[in-house]
Amino acid sequence: MRVYFDYNATTPLAPDVIAAISSVTRDVFGNASSVHHFGQQAKAAMDGARSAVATLIHADPSEIVFTSSGTEADNFAIRGAAEALEATGRRHLIASAIEHEAVLNTLKALGRRGWRTTLLPVDDTGVVSPERLRDTITDDTALVSVMHANNEIGTIQPIAALADVAHARGALIHTDAVQSTGKIPVDARTLGVDLLSLSAHKFNGPKGAGALWIKRGTRMQPILTGGKHERNRRAGTENVPAIAGLGVAAQLAAAKLAPEATRVGALRDRLEDAILRAVPGTAINGARGSRVPNTTNISFDRVEAESLLIALDLEGIAVSTGSACSSGTLEPSHVLRAMGLPTHRTQNSLRFSLGAYSTDEEVDRVIEVLPRLVEKLRGLTQKAAGARG
Ligand SMILES: Cc1ncc(COP(=O)(O)O)c(C=O)c1O
Repeated sequence: MRVYFDYNATTPLAPDVIAAISSVTRDVFGNASSVHHFGQQAKAAMDGARSAVATLIHADPSEIVFTSSGTEADNFAIRGAAEALEATGRRHLIASAIEHEAVLNTLKALGRRGWRTTLLPVDDTGVVSPERLRDTITDDTALVSVMHANNEIGTIQPIAALADVAHARGALIHTDAVQSTGKIPVDARTLGVDLLSLSAHKFNGPKGAGALWIKRGTRMQPILTGGKHERNRRAGTENVPAIAGLGVAAQLAAAKLAPEATRVGALRDRLEDAILRAVPGTAINGARGSRVPNTTNISFDRVEAESLLIALDLEGIAVSTGSACSSGTLEPSHVLRAMGLPTHRTQNSLRFSLGAYSTDEEVDRVIEVLPRLVEKLRGLTQKAAGARG
């Protein structure tokens, strides 16, 4: 039996998404910018997807710009807003310290080009405080970027309160909603932001398809220049099959958001409670209350996370040590570090992320296997220490 508990890295495609991608790939090959029948067919497929994505985040279809990924949507939000606001003289950008690399490294790149950048700290549960933003923001701040839900620990940020603070100083605010969209209700207007990123492959859509929501009237410059695609906001002939797949994934997510959140949340809670009960020396990282329902991040005392990850993989169980992008390195998680966790806990934590196809049987399997593996690894560590001593 194989168990996949790494949905925050990526998700399997829903069968209806696969069907849509195949039929559009086969039957709808036109260029969506062409005026003839073939082009109009492609444009109709994109219009349908645009409406579905807009419905999922309670936005207007005209405000949705399709991108090649969540990474591109984040780059577009930050670079596009920075370039548009440069003329106002504002030269300061703020993001939280626990953002995804798509945001952090974009800020770093702009920092090398003369922008002043500030990373907002988080508390020990991984939450950014609006008061802290109020103390940090200045009249020079162009944009604030704070993620809606964190990919490693699942914590949900108080975006609406942060948006009020940003707007009071005349700054724009972006939220990376890649890990919340499709998991919990996301209402772009209620969140109060100007820009919102999402990515299809985090909610059973294809990889290489994302979107940036740009609130009507927001000053933005395109970062990909060329033709007049996406109302002059993002040049490049559109990947219509992937966009159609994103649309179907959005439709599916919107149709079962609340019952799925309850179902997946119950599985996650059962898994989490059982691990905490069965394995001594475990603790949850992040705010237990305000989290997306599919994620838990747990530290295991006296176990190296990479060793446990490999031991679980050998038993057919796939989990993660944090963000997929930094796995393969023994770098401690920047998220857990920003929360002020002691070094050993930043290196002994595993992320379990569940999703649409997770089952009770999978949870049972992990509960059956994990305590034994942890005990074995702890025994080996103790033996090695004994041999050294
Ligand atoms: C919070 C967050 N932002 C952005 C991304 C990047 O999205 P994509 O994989 O579509 O480039 C990810 C993916 O891991 C993510 O978790």
